[in-house]
Amino acid sequence: MKSTDLVLRGILLALILLLGFVSDSRAGNNSLCFGCHQDADLSRVDAAGKKISLYVSEVRFKSSVHGDLSCSDCHTRIKDDAHSAGGQKIRERVNCGACHEEQNREYLKGLHAKTDPKTSTRAATCSDCHGKHAVYRANDPRSMVHPSQVGKTCDRCHSDRDFTRLHALGPTSPGELFKESVHGKQGK
Ligand code: HEC
Ligand code: HEC
Ligand code: HEC
Ligand code: HEC
Ligand code: HEC
Repeated sequence: MKSTDLVLRGILLALILLLGFVSDSRAGNNSLCFGCHQDADLSRVDAAGKKISLYVSEVRFKSSVHGDLSCSDCHTRIKDDAHSAGGQKIRERVNCGACHEEQNREYLKGLHAKTDPKTSTRAATCSDCHGKHAVYRANDPRSMVHPSQVGKTCDRCHSDRDFTRLHALGPTSPGELFKESVHGKQGK
C-alpha cells in the first residue's frame, strides 16, 4: 500500500470518528450519566439519614415522552460527574414549567401549588402526579394520570381520611371531581 493511501485512510477514519462523536454528543452525554445512574444500588443518604435511590432506568427513560432529551435539559446545573463527590449545598429542583408554561400557569392557580411554610415544599409537585423519569402522555396506559392509574396516583395523598377531613376536600377520592379541573382550575 502506498503511503499516501495510508494518510488518506487515516484522514477518512478521523472524519468518521469525528462525525460520529458530534452526532452522538447528546446521547453521549446521557450515556455518561447512565454509566453511574443505571446502577440499581446507587444511592445517597439525606440529612435525616434516609437512603435515597439514585437509580434511573435507561429503558423506561428512553420509552418516555422525554426520551430524546438530554439529562441536563432538566438537571440544568449538572453537566458532568463533578457532583458525584457529593457535598452539594443547594439541591436544584427540576423546573418542568420551563418547557410547559401553559400547564405551569394553570397549576400555579390551584391549591396543589401552595407551599407548606415549614418544609417549603408544594402540596403536590408536577412529578407527584406525572413521575420523574417515566412520564408518558395522558392517554398512554403507562402514564400515572391515565384513567386506569389516576385513582392510585391521587389516593397516595387523598385516601388518607384525616388528610381530607383536615383539608375539607369532601369526597376521599376526588378523581371524578378533578377530571374537570386538571391542574387546579377549580382551586382559584
Ligand atoms: C461517576 C458517577 C456519576 C456520573 C457519571 C453521574 N453521576 Fe449523578 N450522582 C452520582 C452520585 C454518587 C450522586 C450522589 C451525590 C451525593 O451524595 O450528593 C449523584 C447524584 C445525582 C443527582 C441527585 C442530586 C440530588 O440533589 O439528589 C442527580 C440529579 C444526578 N446525579 C444527575 C446526573 C446527571 C444528569 C449526570 C450526567 C450529566 C450524572 N448524574 C452523572 C454519580 C454520578
Ligand atoms: C423531564 C425532566 C427530567 C429529565 C430529562 C431527567 N430527569 Fe432526573 N429528575 C427529574 C425530576 C423531576 C426529579 C426529582 C427531583 C427534582 O424535582 O429535582 C429527578 C431526579 C433525579 C435524580 C435523583 C433521584 C431521584 O430519582 O429523585 C437522579 C439521580 C436523576 N434525576 C438522574 C437523571 C438522569 C441520569 C437523567 C438522564 C438519563 C435524568 N435524570 C433526566 C426530572 C428529569
Ligand atoms: C427541556 C424541556 C422539558 C422539560 C424541562 C420538561 N418537559 Fe415535558 N415535554 C417536553 C417535550 C419536548 C415533550 C414532547 C412533546 C411532544 O412530543 O408532543 C414533552 C411532553 C410531556 C408530556 C406529554 C404531553 C402530551 O401532550 O401528552 C407530559 C405529561 C410532560 N411532558 C410532563 C413533564 C413534567 C411532569 C416535567 C417535569 C418533571 C416535564 N415535562 C419537563 C419537554 C420538556
Ligand atoms: C394533582 C396532579 C397533577 C399535578 C400536580 C400536575 N398535573 Fe399535569 N396532568 C394531571 C392530569 C390528571 C392530567 C391529564 C388530564 C387530561 O388531559 O385528562 C395532566 C396532563 C398534563 C399534560 C398533558 C397535556 C394536557 O394539558 O392535557 C401536561 C403537559 C402536564 N400535565 C404537565 C404538568 C406540569 C408541567 C405540571 C407542574 C407545573 C403538572 N402537570 C402538574 C395531573 C397533574
Ligand atoms: C403529593 C400529594 C398529592 C397528590 C399526589 C394529589 N394531591 Fe390533591 N391535594 C393535595 C393537598 C395537600 C391539597 C390541599 C391543599 C391545601 O388545602 O392547602 C390538595 C387539594 C386537592 C383538591 C382541591 C383544590 C384544587 O386545587 O383543585 C382537589 C380537587 C384535588 N387535590 C384532587 C387531586 C387529584 C384528582 C389528584 C390526582 C390526579 C391529586 N389531587 C393528587 C395533595 C395531593
